[in-house]
Amino acid sequence: MAELDRKDSHLALCLEEEVEFPGASGFAGLRFDHDALPELDRDEVDTGVELFGKRLAAPIVIASMTGGTPRAGELNRRLALAAEACGVGMALGSQRKMLEDPSTRATFAVRDAAPGIPLLFGNVGAVQLNYGVGAREVRALVEGAGCDAFYFHLNPLQEAIQPGGDTRFSGLLPKLREVVPQAGVPVLLKEVGSGISRTTAARIRDLPVAGVETSGVGGTSWSKVESLRTADPVQRGTGELFARWGVPTAESVAICREALPDRVVIASGGIRNGIEAAKALALGADAVSVALPLLRAADRSAEDALLALRQLVEELRTAMFVTGCRTVAELRLRPLARARDYTAEG
Ligand SMILES: Cc1cc2nc3c(=O)[nH]c(=O)nc-3n(C[C@H](O)[C@H](O)[C@H](O)COP(=O)(O)O)c2cc1C
Repeated sequence: MAELDRKDSHLALCLEEEVEFPGASGFAGLRFDHDALPELDRDEVDTGVELFGKRLAAPIVIASMTGGTPRAGELNRRLALAAEACGVGMALGSQRKMLEDPSTRATFAVRDAAPGIPLLFGNVGAVQLNYGVGAREVRALVEGAGCDAFYFHLNPLQEAIQPGGDTRFSGLLPKLREVVPQAGVPVLLKEVGSGISRTTAARIRDLPVAGVETSGVGGTSWSKVESLRTADPVQRGTGELFARWGVPTAESVAICREALPDRVVIASGGIRNGIEAAKALALGADAVSVALPLLRAADRSAEDALLALRQLVEELRTAMFVTGCRTVAELRLRPLARARDYTAEG
């Protein structure tokens, strides 16, 4: 029996199983000061930002997820149409397949369907620098999909649990130092669900990268996903144990903001509504990125993907209104208090 393609098996598990840990992201423990006298008309609220020289209607990016199979290509197309219609950014999933099998290129060619996406990110695993990928390949991925920026993902835990994972993670720092300036576009490093810790952020500070994406604990857990995929009971148990391993997203955003004051920080990992997005921005993020809920919406239909994105923007706008923020720059300066005996969201 042919093995289900790895990307399709990831998609199926993420769409059908419990693979996230909402509540572990740390946002519920933070609270805005509600302002009943915001001295602001709702119509004045402007969610727009500039990121990497591109104008976004809201500080939102559809996170790196997919590409490489017909199903993935259709999901990318739907996500791309939603990103274009809402004027937000979008990231491609790992483009490694584009290098291995050029016939998959069309599944990443989202600009064919949605040429107006304001900001498009490419993606490949940083560990692939130890498996034959170099500056030439990265440039080919950027140019091949028309990307404005590029993510290297850092996923040691996922690779450790994944059957046959690529686990040679030594020697990546000098390779990143060499390859990043040759990518031709701004490069960011991202986790995939275990967060960027203080230790990692300190290492990243010495690299010529433009920014980071946190992908902290609280959202999709790749240890959990891989534990569901593996047939090996020992690996399955290990994946279960590490399912919530890492830095909660709210903490990771604060850490990255402090450790990397002059770089872009994108918050991700369990951001599930506009209030959590607003909290991530108030912690210092420049933008937020969302994966799983948008994937599930896009799997239902292109219309649902658009609706989910519009809802997120609307919730963010409302959070800005009731905290008296005319602009995202103002929101980023709003203090957050530790929530104690509050049960209401917010
Ligand atoms: C189906 C799926 C596929 C993903 N594939 C990639 C990938 O190829 N490269 C990557 O950097 N991150 C990948 N991610 C991780 C996301 O970009 C994101 O970091 C993580 O899911 C946390 O966000 P969330 O809690 O909103 O899902 C994937 C996530 C999902 C749900």
